[in-house]
Amino acid sequence: MITIALSKGRIFEETMPILNKAGIFCDEDPEKSRKLVLTTNNKDLQLIIVRASDVPTYVEWGGADMGIAGKDVLDEYQGIGLYQPLDLGIGKCQLMVAAQKEFDYKGSIKRKTRLRVATKYPQAARKFFSNKGIHIDVIKLYGSMELAPIVGMSDVIVDLVSSGKTLEANNLKAFEKISDISSRLIINEAALKIKREQLKPLIENFVKVAL
Ligand code: PRP
Repeated sequence: MITIALSKGRIFEETMPILNKAGIFCDEDPEKSRKLVLTTNNKDLQLIIVRASDVPTYVEWGGADMGIAGKDVLDEYQGIGLYQPLDLGIGKCQLMVAAQKEFDYKGSIKRKTRLRVATKYPQAARKFFSNKGIHIDVIKLYGSMELAPIVGMSDVIVDLVSSGKTLEANNLKAFEKISDISSRLIINEAALKIKREQLKPLIENFVKVAL
């Protein structure tokens, strides 16, 4: 049996067409089903639905042979034993530093002012600001980061920006890009050796679809 870990978050809508093009169809509508294990048209292939940030964990620990995860999640993940062969070109957005429109971001960077940074992405935030020689206090949040500067809890946020509508609706502005984000196919390195026969054609299908 081959198991693929997916999440129902931001990238799900774009994930299903990719799976379909790779010849994988769910037996029931995953949008409607509350099942966590979904069977497919291939009796030797199942999908599991996990939280976006848990996809690399399931793949590293062998709960799934492969998975689809955003680069944002993978950059934060400290694990090993994951093979990342393919950028699927879906779930495209940017990891940005944002703050209230009137915040003097340029000035505070120039003066190397210590910043309070609210984010779901502490690793990426620390790396980015340390490269600039700026000390930060990370305030770890799990969602709705946009609130933090509004209520005066942080100076800036580090968050994903796609259309920019969430920032705009909350009177925030993106000041600097940290990185471009898209979703990757990840594979458990041990499974790649042990289940090579079954995984190889599947990976080749994903490569064709992603081109
Ligand atoms: C992301 C991000 C922003 C929003 C940006 O949240 O955290 O809140 O999308 O999108 P926009 O620029 O198109 O407005 P997501 O929907 O992934 O949910 P999350 O809060 O659970 O991360």
